[in-house]
Amino acid sequence: MNRKYRKTVIAANWKMNKTPSDTKAFMTEFKAMMPKGRWCDVAICVPAVCIPAAVRAMRETRVGIGAENCNANASGAYTGEIATNMLVDAGCKYVIIGHSERRAMGETDAEVNAKVQAALAAELIPILCVGESLEQREIGITEEWITMQIKAALNGVAEEKIRKIIIAYEPIWAIGTGKTATPEQAEEVCEHIRTVIRKLYGAKIARATSILYGGSMNEKNAFELLAQPDIDGGLIGGASLVPEKFVKIIEAANQPTV
Ligand code: 13P
Repeated sequence: MNRKYRKTVIAANWKMNKTPSDTKAFMTEFKAMMPKGRWCDVAICVPAVCIPAAVRAMRETRVGIGAENCNANASGAYTGEIATNMLVDAGCKYVIIGHSERRAMGETDAEVNAKVQAALAAELIPILCVGESLEQREIGITEEWITMQIKAALNGVAEEKIRKIIIAYEPIWAIGTGKTATPEQAEEVCEHIRTVIRKLYGAKIARATSILYGGSMNEKNAFELLAQPDIDGGLIGGASLVPEKFVKIIEAANQPTV
């Protein structure tokens, strides 16, 4: 982390977990134990049907609610899809884009790019996910793959828009497996991501971009991961479903930084 130049962000990705009723119960518990300090931004990204309950519960708190996906089109015949202006109107501040679980369902780099542009145009903060598979890591193409994903996702995104984006490095082999990347492995790729941003947008923007790590981050390993200079927060799946665990991760973000 480096709080001098960029925000620390602890973000939850609930994936397909919890009902609206569960959401209300979680938020009540979470609010009662939420750390008072303002050392990081907190985002909770929830299933679309849970957004109203989450927004209602977190009104007048510093927690921002997010969606887990959006459609890049403004409106029209896209049954079952949700446009960015709908998310904004529902009270969302963030939207996760390009999660590997969605890419595995067929989402392409071109679609990810269109969604990033639509989110930025609607003034939502995109949490853009990138990450390599185990096979890609083993054959030694992690950095090339991540570079390609970022360039594709940010294609045509103007310099004045890029400032709002958050990038999450989520190695696919670490997601939901309990097999966390070591702090060194995670730092290496997050540093590489910052280099890619520097080459695309310059040093000032690269320095100001928050880059998160995601993949089996939990209340036990968060401190060490967050101590790395280029890891500015976390995108947390499983451990974000339990208020005590999520709160401990937020507390781990309260540590001296470089
Ligand atoms: P887990 O924390 O459950 O590994 O999930 C990580 C993730 O995919 C967050 O987007």
